[in-house]
Amino acid sequence: MIPLICLAPLQGITDRIYRNLFSFYFKGVDSAVAPFISPSKKMKPDNPQLLELDPDRNTGIPVIPQIMTSNPDDFTALANVLYDMGYGTVNWNIGCPFRMVVKKGRGAGMLCYPDRIESFLGKTMPVLKPKLSIKLRTGLKHSDEALHLIPLFNRFDLDELIIHPRTAVQMYEGDVDLDMFERCLNLSEHGVVYNGDIYSIDDFNALAGRFPQVKSWMIGRGLIGNPFLAENIKFNTEKTRNEKIKIIRDFHDDLFDEYSKILSGPAHITNKMKEIWAYMAGFFANAEKIRKKINKTHHRDTYIDVVNKIFDELV
Ligand SMILES: Cc1cc2nc3c(=O)[nH]c(=O)nc-3n(C[C@H](O)[C@H](O)[C@H](O)COP(=O)(O)O)c2cc1C
Repeated sequence: MIPLICLAPLQGITDRIYRNLFSFYFKGVDSAVAPFISPSKKMKPDNPQLLELDPDRNTGIPVIPQIMTSNPDDFTALANVLYDMGYGTVNWNIGCPFRMVVKKGRGAGMLCYPDRIESFLGKTMPVLKPKLSIKLRTGLKHSDEALHLIPLFNRFDLDELIIHPRTAVQMYEGDVDLDMFERCLNLSEHGVVYNGDIYSIDDFNALAGRFPQVKSWMIGRGLIGNPFLAENIKFNTEKTRNEKIKIIRDFHDDLFDEYSKILSGPAHITNKMKEIWAYMAGFFANAEKIRKKINKTHHRDTYIDVVNKIFDELV
């Protein structure tokens, strides 16, 4: 069985430009959940968050938009607009671990309130036009909070659950709790997507061996750091190192050109590229040295020189 691979949402990285170019240069990714958008009171069609999701401008990887809010009416209104734009499925984010989000009872701030989640789903599901998928962590502070949620999810007609088996307190570090993931998987009557810390074929094979029921895998940092990972997993192909470096260089240059068109000040474009390099440098053996060199650049011309030198030295 060929696994399905979904590009994880990384706010600030996996935006429309990134996703479109990614699918041009790299194979093996079947879908992408877009970074979350939050509903605002009046979302006109020219709202930048909606324009970012315009299907005519998202022609690479099939996209599932993601919404983060604790308000069922706001959620439904935005999800139904997205449906009218052409999206058959939307994703609800109840995993975001950031303090400000959690404090407002959104994202992972909902995980320890099954009653709020039940009420949210009770209000949204009857009036929601698109199918609903949910992305969650196993808990806010305690890894077993999701165990109270799965039976509740089972009562609703959901598309799938994407589970990142960490608590919000862990942020993105520390061990993933595979035993808890397994318990959630066994309890769930919906399809479950595994997400977290897949950086290599060995990581993938170990997880796929342990969880044969899982058909779909979401990968974030592992794919940004090694964009060939999905094609390696699926097709077991390996390009030469120099072929890969050339592809990454072309990908980088296109990203730089596309972002340069929309980002005005010289610091904006270098800051944007630094965010990407924070993960992308992971591909190279001397990642830390590369990050340091790039982080020292503050002007686009210096940035271009430094990056060209880095790539020239790699081959
Ligand atoms: C910089 C950054 C931004 C993220 N933004 C989002 C987001 O917008 N929505 C979301 O559901 N998860 C977000 N995540 C979490 C990832 O989608 C993913 O669940 C997490 O990184 C674990 O998967 P990985 O180990 O494959 O990266 C973000 C993670 C990072 C590091």
